[in-house]
Amino acid sequence: MNLFKFDSESSWVDGVAGLWRDRLRSNPKLRMCLPSGHTPNPIFAAMGKAVAAGQVSFKQAEIFALDEFGGLAPDDEGLCANMLQRYLLKDIDLAPKNFHRIDPDAKNVAAEYDRIIGDGFDLTLLGIGLNGHLGMNEPGSPIDGTTRRVELHPTTVASSAKYLTHKNLPTWGVAVGLKHLLGSKEVWLLANGQKKAEIIQRAAKGPIGPDVPASLLRNHPNAFFMVDAEAGALL
Ligand code: PGA
Repeated sequence: MNLFKFDSESSWVDGVAGLWRDRLRSNPKLRMCLPSGHTPNPIFAAMGKAVAAGQVSFKQAEIFALDEFGGLAPDDEGLCANMLQRYLLKDIDLAPKNFHRIDPDAKNVAAEYDRIIGDGFDLTLLGIGLNGHLGMNEPGSPIDGTTRRVELHPTTVASSAKYLTHKNLPTWGVAVGLKHLLGSKEVWLLANGQKKAEIIQRAAKGPIGPDVPASLLRNHPNAFFMVDAEAGALL
């Protein structure tokens, strides 16, 4: 397993953002699958600053949303696409047509998203749920799963409250499946903070299998666990 353990949160942000800039410079047409949630936001902010400083450009790149909640209004600030917009897209120079969001209510959404994913991703960034989920691929998700509607695990439903300003918590979503995530040329699993230490330990040291989807990344030759000191404290 490839592990990058940074000694502070700020060095984690700088380190991950620096590697990300390198990947974009090596391949300006990088096709990325990106998570929303709280974990990536400081890294997104660093990328926004790098774009403003002319250090890197997303102009020719493509971004695919990793997942989306169902049952929320289009302007709900907790929608994954709206979080990506707020924390990343508004600050970078990506061509709007190169952002692919998931509309959970669209007809044939899964097949259509799989079609545009096409040959897959060059780089996938992931957070980790407290139950080890990757995106909305909850424990027990099939490793050959493509984009599909998913029912959310109770811990994921409860966690979603932190993104919302109301109590109408989503119970389902549409997620890019493990087949695409594990098929990405490179995958970075991001985690910071003490509350992720235990699940990072299970994902990195426990049995590899669908009970902890993040553990499956250990079978990927080019997957990296990138953690700060607190999230990596039990490794
Ligand atoms: P978080 O969510 O980044 O807000 O902690 C991660 C996840 O549930 O996958």
